[in-house]
Amino acid sequence: MPLTLSKICTGIMPSATLRLNAIVAELRAQGQDIISLAAGEPDFDTPANIVSAANKAMAEGGTHYTAVSGLPQLRQAICDCLFEEKGLVYQKANIIVGTGAKQVLYEALRAIVNQGDEVILPAPCWLSYAEMVGMVGGKAVLVAADDMNNYVPKMHDIAKKVTPRTKVILINSPNNPTGAVWNMEALRGIAEIAQDKDIWIISDEIYEKMVYGGARHISIASLSPDAKERTIVVSGLSKAYAMTGWRLGYAAGPASVIKEMDAYQSHATGNANSIAQFAGVEALKGPQDSVHAMVRAFERRRALMLDCIKKVPGVTYRAPQGAFYVLLNVSACIGKRYLNTLISDDTVFSELLLQHARVSVVPGAPFFAPSHVRLSYAVSEEKIVEGIRRMAQFVQEIID
Ligand SMILES: Cc1ncc(COP(=O)(O)O)c(C=O)c1O
Repeated sequence: MPLTLSKICTGIMPSATLRLNAIVAELRAQGQDIISLAAGEPDFDTPANIVSAANKAMAEGGTHYTAVSGLPQLRQAICDCLFEEKGLVYQKANIIVGTGAKQVLYEALRAIVNQGDEVILPAPCWLSYAEMVGMVGGKAVLVAADDMNNYVPKMHDIAKKVTPRTKVILINSPNNPTGAVWNMEALRGIAEIAQDKDIWIISDEIYEKMVYGGARHISIASLSPDAKERTIVVSGLSKAYAMTGWRLGYAAGPASVIKEMDAYQSHATGNANSIAQFAGVEALKGPQDSVHAMVRAFERRRALMLDCIKKVPGVTYRAPQGAFYVLLNVSACIGKRYLNTLISDDTVFSELLLQHARVSVVPGAPFFAPSHVRLSYAVSEEKIVEGIRRMAQFVQEIID
């Protein structure tokens, strides 16, 4: 029998940004100064008190296996935060800690979705969702939200996509890549559809602390006892505490689901890194000043980036209320030429921008936002100003 590979794995779409990353590396190796507005993580270092807690854990033997679902004191700290910040009452049995929000998201889908079940994804959305749904044998059903509605889908569009196979609606507010923060009305709409049709909700709240200009993050699980019973809240420490490399995320939900996620994780990876978990307790329980300082810095940079973008001709955008991204509509450039190259889509736009203006951005298509690019303001103010200046010049040459 020939050596064949798994259909699920060979069907996974490799990251669309890999090619662009390779070009960035090549140009940098040639000594070119590239400004990256592509970052998906805070540019701040992990706060010192958290690093000290990790050092202490290493020195004092916190280097062994922990419970699969995480240290009890970390799960308790998560329960305390969920209560203080969202009014959600959970016990330790309702919490699982994993290797990043990514792992627990995958496990939540794994625990709920059977072969052929449908998962509704309001789009634009983070590029890993659709792949994860495919990896557990489900079918991603996208519901497009347009910028006219601030990138929040209309509830009748979601309701129309519900079928007897619909198992989950996966929402993400604040959103990557749009920066949209869903209001109470939208969340109520989802909760009502879910209750009416008996569907699970997975709510990815990883950017919960990054909200600006009076916007408020609301967890859908806090809307009603019914919403809480059918929701798996996913979050983590990566973005809020600048801990992306530590790999620490968690899910909170009904004990029945958490138990299955725990069983899966026990065989797949085991506990999240023990040292990171001790550091995580300090992150959640220790002083929060560095988080506030970081969010204030993002708020300033967001204002600066939006100000600079006003000078880029032909592009449009919706002012984001959360996360650290701006989704820019570059459709005015699609179908035009730069030098001799046809800009057939946002990926070609991004490649040309990188090669000729030395600015790296992320194409929108993998986020189901064709003809858009995602800019990140998790970079210094100088880089924002210079990056957008270069971009404005590049776009001007295209549309002239
Ligand atoms: C919307 C969204 N969810 C989840 C994650 C994954 O977070 P983590 O680094 O904790 O796995 C990311 C990371 O970029 C994200 O943008």
